[in-house]
Amino acid sequence: MPDKSDKKRILIVDDNIITCEVIRRNFEISGFHVFTANSVNDAIEILSRQKINLLITDYKMPKHSGLELIKYVRDHFLDICIIMLTGYGSINSAVSAMKEGADEYITKPFTDKELLDAVTKSLLTQKEKKINSTEIYNDTWTRFGIIGQSQNMLDMFSKIEKACKNDAIVLITGENGTGKELVARAIHYNHKERSVYPFIPINCPGIPSNLFESELFGHVKGAFTGAVQHRKGFFQAAEKGCLFLDEISELPFELQAKLLRVLQEKEISRVGETQLKKIDVRIVAATNKDLEDLVKKDLFRQDLFFRLNVINIDIPPLKNRGDDIILLAKHFALKYSKELGKTEPVFTDKAITALKNYSWPGNVRELENLIHRNLIMNEKDQIDSLNFPDIMKFSVSCDQQLNLSLEDMSKKYVRDVVEQAGGNKAKALKILKIDRKTLLKKLI
Ligand SMILES: Nc1ncnc2c1ncn2[C@@H]1O[C@H](COP(=O)(O)OP(=O)(O)OP(=O)(O)O)[C@@H](O)[C@H]1O
Ligand SMILES: [Mg+2]
Repeated sequence: MPDKSDKKRILIVDDNIITCEVIRRNFEISGFHVFTANSVNDAIEILSRQKINLLITDYKMPKHSGLELIKYVRDHFLDICIIMLTGYGSINSAVSAMKEGADEYITKPFTDKELLDAVTKSLLTQKEKKINSTEIYNDTWTRFGIIGQSQNMLDMFSKIEKACKNDAIVLITGENGTGKELVARAIHYNHKERSVYPFIPINCPGIPSNLFESELFGHVKGAFTGAVQHRKGFFQAAEKGCLFLDEISELPFELQAKLLRVLQEKEISRVGETQLKKIDVRIVAATNKDLEDLVKKDLFRQDLFFRLNVINIDIPPLKNRGDDIILLAKHFALKYSKELGKTEPVFTDKAITALKNYSWPGNVRELENLIHRNLIMNEKDQIDSLNFPDIMKFSVSCDQQLNLSLEDMSKKYVRDVVEQAGGNKAKALKILKIDRKTLLKKLI
C-alpha cells in the first residue's frame, strides 16, 4: 500500500484560521495531505521543510500579501501549482496573481466543489507539463529539472541557458548515461517560443539506411514499393519545435551528406517529390563518441561536424561532479522509495564513502539502477555499501590514494575488506582469494 507520502501535498495559506480549517477538513476527506499557515512567513517556513505540490493562498493578508508569496514560490519552486483566492469583484488582484505565475484564481465565496475542481485541474495540468517536459523537481539544487550544484554542472547550466535563448544547433557530448537526452529536453522545454511545439527524439542507428530519407523527410504516395499513402517525416512532425538526433556518430557516411544539405539549405523535399519545402526546426544532436577523432579517421564528415558543433555542451562524467553523486543518490532513493511504497532510506557513512569513491563508468544511469536495485532487494530502510557490488565496496578514491606504494595500498585494501566483512577473516579470505598466512602478514 502506498504510504501517506504518496498523497498530493497541499499548503493552505489564509490569515483566517476558520477558513483554513474548513478547507483542510474538506481536502483531507478527499485524500490530500494538508498543511496550513496563517501568514506568509509561516508558509515560507513550511515550504522550506516540506515538499508541497499545490499552494492555495488568500490574497489579502496582514504584513505580506498573497501576491508576495506567489512571487516567492515562483522564484524558488518551479513546479508548485498555485491557486489564488480573491475577494468578490477584485479582478485586478486576480490579474496580477496570474501575471506573477498563479495557475488559477477563485473568487470568494466559492463552494467546496469549485475549489476541489480547481485543485484537480491544476494538478492535472502539472502532470501533463511534467510528462511533456523533463521532470522538474522543486529543490534548490536542480536547474531545468537536472540535479547538480557542482561547479562543472553550474557551468553546464549556464550553457543550457544560452542555448535556450537562440536557435543555434547544439551538439551534446558526454559518456553513456550522463544525461544527454535530459539536457536536450531541457534545451527544448525552456525555449521561449519553441517549447510549446513538439520535441522529437530520433535514435539515428535505429533507422534503417534505406528508410532514412523517407523517415526524416516523409514521402508521397507511390514513391516506392510500400509507400501506399503520403507520410510525414520527422522534420515536418517537429515543425517549429526541436529534432533531437541521438547517437549522431552512428549515421552512415552517405546519409551524413544528406543531413548536411538539409541543415545548410533549411529545406527538404519528400521522397518521390521534387518540390522543396522550407523547414523551421531546431536541431540538437548528441553523441558519446569523440566526433573529432572520428573525423580524423574519416568516419565522420568534417563539414557536418562543423555544422553541428555550433554550441557544444559537454556533460561532465559523474565522477567529476563531487557531492552531486550524493544528491543524485538521495534523489533516486526518494523517487524509488515512493514508487515502491517504502520509507525513504538513510545512507550509512560507508555507503556515502563508496558512492563518492567509485568511478561510475555508467554514470547517472548506473547510479540510478544501483539505488533502485538496493531498494527492491533490501528489507531495511537503509542503504549500506554491504549491498553494493564488490567492485564498489572496496574501490578507493583516486584523489586521496595516489601517494601510496603498491604494498601499502594492498595492505590498506586487505584491512578494508576485513573491516567490511565485519572482522570475519574467513569471509575476507574468500573475497581476497589469498591464504590465511598472507592475510595475517598484510594485517601487520
Ligand atoms: N543530473 C541529473 N539529474 C537527474 N536525473 C538525471 C541526471 N542525469 C541523468 N539523469 C537520469 O539518468 C538517466 C540517464 O539519462 P539520459 O538518458 O539522459 O542519459 P544519456 O546520456 O542520454 O544516456 P545514453 O548515453 O545511454 O544514451 C535518466 O533516467 C535521467 O533522467
Ligand atoms: Mg541517450
